[in-house]
Amino acid sequence: MADTNMTSRRRDFIKQTARFAVALGASGGLSGIAPASESRSQSAGAFPKGFLWGAATAAHQVEGNNINSDLWLVEHLKDSMFREPSGDACDHYHLYEQDINTLADLGLTAYRFSIEWARIEPERGYFSQAELQHYRRMLEACHRRNITPLVTYSHFTVPRWLAMDGAWENPGSPNLFANYCERATRALGDLTAFAATFNEPDIPHLLHWIILPGDKPGSSLVEQMAAGKDAIRHQLNAPRFSSFLFGDAEKSRQNMLSAHGKGKAAIKSVRSNLPVGFTLAMEDDQPAGADSHVEQKRADVYGPWLKLAKKDDYMGVQTYTRSLVATKNLPPPAGAALTQMGYEFYPESLEHTIRYANKETGVPVIVTENGVATEDDRKRIEYIQRALQGVKRCLADGIDVRGYIQWSLLDNFEWTFGYMPKFGLIAVDHETQKRTPKPSAAFLGNIARNNSI
Ligand code: BGC
Repeated sequence: MADTNMTSRRRDFIKQTARFAVALGASGGLSGIAPASESRSQSAGAFPKGFLWGAATAAHQVEGNNINSDLWLVEHLKDSMFREPSGDACDHYHLYEQDINTLADLGLTAYRFSIEWARIEPERGYFSQAELQHYRRMLEACHRRNITPLVTYSHFTVPRWLAMDGAWENPGSPNLFANYCERATRALGDLTAFAATFNEPDIPHLLHWIILPGDKPGSSLVEQMAAGKDAIRHQLNAPRFSSFLFGDAEKSRQNMLSAHGKGKAAIKSVRSNLPVGFTLAMEDDQPAGADSHVEQKRADVYGPWLKLAKKDDYMGVQTYTRSLVATKNLPPPAGAALTQMGYEFYPESLEHTIRYANKETGVPVIVTENGVATEDDRKRIEYIQRALQGVKRCLADGIDVRGYIQWSLLDNFEWTFGYMPKFGLIAVDHETQKRTPKPSAAFLGNIARNNSI
């Protein structure tokens, strides 16, 4: 039995390696992908051969019933900073195959999703083979449709046992994370095309700079979140409870920087040629006024991560808007068109962050998130079109961009904002779980089919 399994796994591995040869280059790893500058095709609107066209999700936002995670607990408190609980979300846990098939039918070639640590290790030291097999089936569903899977190991949530023990503030968290990375890679690494340890580990620092419309001067989002933490601890009667989104930013960052290094080493110890990186939340920071702190902001938010990314195989850039930076971010300019999140509608931001990320790190860039929260799908089409013009300009200047992945495949659970913001290419009725692709899904799918705008 074991032998048969081994043989069929090996057969699968050979099959999928052949497929990755297109995306990853025959030698495996990113160094094998034809760099953008070499593989650019003749027609003016064309993207490089093998350019990844995809959409993204994150486990907690789409799977539903992520009951062993920290945020499930917080969402269900009487006094919660969440507008509503995640509940069944998009039931992607059960409907993943349908969703991956739709993504492929649209013409897209890549799917970025996260695996959920809280499911895989629901109690400290107990690893669920059944959950690992679940994610293996998701990867197999991608391969059946020639979809390149990009796997994120940690997208904001942590297991509640870790949250009870301080989450990323806990000095033991890097080793615990590396252990999880190793176990997950042993089960899933042979089917994974790109691994990211973390999604946007810079968010807590970024939140220090953001003041939302209506906030009291000097009261950044992070200060509001930190105040919420005390209320949560009190309600849970858990004095050490913490979480990525409202933890002590400085302590958490030190541990996450170390966790990235250890996690990456653990992944590579299982599959040395698997490209590993992380993704960063990057605003297009533009100086405002004579005393702009734009450089301080960049050093504070991205600095340590960009330094680390120089040693990675690629870097994931995630951009939604620009920010005008005085001593903190200013509110969007008067009269600017706003998205449902209250950000300025500013698709050109992506071009600027790609240029910045590539200049600072020198490693290939994959746009791992970009998108807009809107009820008006025509605005999403406009956003994609304008953002991609920017990607094209980067490529024309020889910047090594390997793919464009939209946030998000589905209308999903937007954290504290609940289900209100609509980021999806596909609408989801959360009562019936019926999916309805929007015109923007066909629009992006068409671009992917033509590999051209
Ligand atoms: C996160 C996603 C989130 C999206 C839209 C990114 O910060 O990675 O989880 O839903 O932005 O706000």
